[in-house]
Amino acid sequence: MKIRLDKYLADMGLGARSQVKKEIRDGGVTVNGAVTRRPETKIDTEQDEIAFHGEPVAYTEYEYYMLNKPAGVVSASSDRQETTVIDLIGERKRNGLFPIGRLDKDTEGLLIITNNGELAHRLLSPKKHVDKVYFARIKGYVTETDVENFSRGVDIGDEKPTLPAELFICRSDDISEIRLTIREGRFHQVKRMFRAVGKEVVYLKRLRMGDVSLDDGLMPGEYRRLTEEEVERLCSQEKKL
Ligand code: URA
Repeated sequence: MKIRLDKYLADMGLGARSQVKKEIRDGGVTVNGAVTRRPETKIDTEQDEIAFHGEPVAYTEYEYYMLNKPAGVVSASSDRQETTVIDLIGERKRNGLFPIGRLDKDTEGLLIITNNGELAHRLLSPKKHVDKVYFARIKGYVTETDVENFSRGVDIGDEKPTLPAELFICRSDDISEIRLTIREGRFHQVKRMFRAVGKEVVYLKRLRMGDVSLDDGLMPGEYRRLTEEEVERLCSQEKKL
């Protein structure tokens, strides 16, 4: 890929476009070992070697992270008041990262964060029914009737009922524990499905999205890069659909 030198440096998080232009003009940047003072110089991201004040700067087109989202942070790219899921990705290089889909502020678990808009768009398209698996604690007894209702789809007040969903009861008690697989991503969907059968979600965590599962070594608030295989699986998921 060929891009301008100032964009290359700004994309890699070395400053705003105006700042990196100044650095280039001041002679702080080399291309293949030679100082280049022209911000518009075209760079081949696969071939050229760029250094910023003597430090090599490799180009990464796409970044992919798996975050175990903690409760209390918002699934947005930026927010004036609240901590966002992007703020938690300390090692990010690129500007323009965002979460693929949203989890409520009080929901925990798997969130994939990337700058690959095309992949996100396809995975989130309502026409593609990507599995999302949740673990939840529910106030009150969850019953086989709930399992049957969910398997038929429930009316949550939208134009159409939900698609069939698989409810598995791990423990039915004063506080029940369940796993639920849904194939859509409607607003507050899990909470609204339980509300539709007269129950309340008191804890919610996403465990899986498509073929990518939350790494159980990640504590809430921790993240890691997706492996190449996981990225491959997400991308091939998109082709399978
Ligand atoms: N369903 C919900 O109700 N909340 C979430 O955060 C995710 C799915």
